[in-house]
Amino acid sequence: MSWLGLEKKVIIVTGGGLGIGRAICEALAAEGARVVIADFNDEAGAKAVAELKAKHGGDALFVKTNIAVPADVKAMVAKVVETFGTVDIVVNNAGINIPRLLVDPAGKEEMNEESWDRVFDINVKGMFLVSQEAGRVMVKNKKGVILNMSSESGQEGSEGQSAYAASKAANHNMTRSWAKELGKHGVRVVGLAPGILEATALRSEAYEKGLAYTRGISVEQLRAGYEKVSIPIGRPGKLSEVADTVAFLISERASYIHGTTVNISGGKSRG
Ligand SMILES: NC(=O)c1ccc[n+]([C@@H]2O[C@H](COP(=O)([O-])OP(=O)(O)OC[C@H]3O[C@@H](n4cnc5c(N)ncnc54)[C@H](O)[C@@H]3O)[C@@H](O)[C@H]2O)c1
Repeated sequence: MSWLGLEKKVIIVTGGGLGIGRAICEALAAEGARVVIADFNDEAGAKAVAELKAKHGGDALFVKTNIAVPADVKAMVAKVVETFGTVDIVVNNAGINIPRLLVDPAGKEEMNEESWDRVFDINVKGMFLVSQEAGRVMVKNKKGVILNMSSESGQEGSEGQSAYAASKAANHNMTRSWAKELGKHGVRVVGLAPGILEATALRSEAYEKGLAYTRGISVEQLRAGYEKVSIPIGRPGKLSEVADTVAFLISERASYIHGTTVNISGGKSRG
């Protein structure tokens, strides 16, 4: 058994097809876990599972899932239990961001019901649906871990991203509240709040255009700013650094960390 002891653990990673989720799957597969990718991106999910199996051997499974759709989530957890017999850990990583202003005097990029609902459907409702369905298995087993991916914007707020920041603040309080509810059932709940990281698919062209607009700067200035903002450690975070922290937090080595969201921002914010 390794130091982290994640061998053979059945771990669902939502949004595991790309970005941070993909890096998390890599770290967990390297530890010998049985990784389940629950993602609505067919191509990315299937490719990731094929790569994990080729590189690490062992078990990996892709289940196409839109975490905002209850029937999808139910079917995904049922498939995991049918395949591996249980669920040990959930990493609630899938999330989206749509930059918008509350009030845009030019009327171009104003938040509306549709953009608000999309962000909350995935970042908040999706996290609730997956945690409830997998949480039922964990409570029955009297053991398990739920990790909720938040963001430093959920701790500090963010210009042009208020719906996203509010959804991530909701994630903090889901972590706190579920810890209070589930601790007595042997289920640990913990959050992680990354700051500025190396680019992922989240930083799409549309996202950067939207965010630059809401901040009254050009896309080039925005991109330059990623490097210039004051990060005491002097660089953006690596996806592998987030993944390694997830591996530790969901392991027995972190068995007394419960109901809190750990900030991982190179000192940029403290939570
Ligand atoms: N990238 C950053 O700098 C950063 C910083 C702080 C927090 N985060 C958080 O980390 C998480 C991952 O972000 P990322 O940068 O890797 O994003 P990404 O866009 O690169 O990847 C997100 C993955 O989630 C999947 N996904 C999105 N909506 C889904 C849904 N409804 N159902 C199933 N799968 C869905 C996508 O298909 C994709 O594979 C998000 O919760 C994000 O808010 C990211």
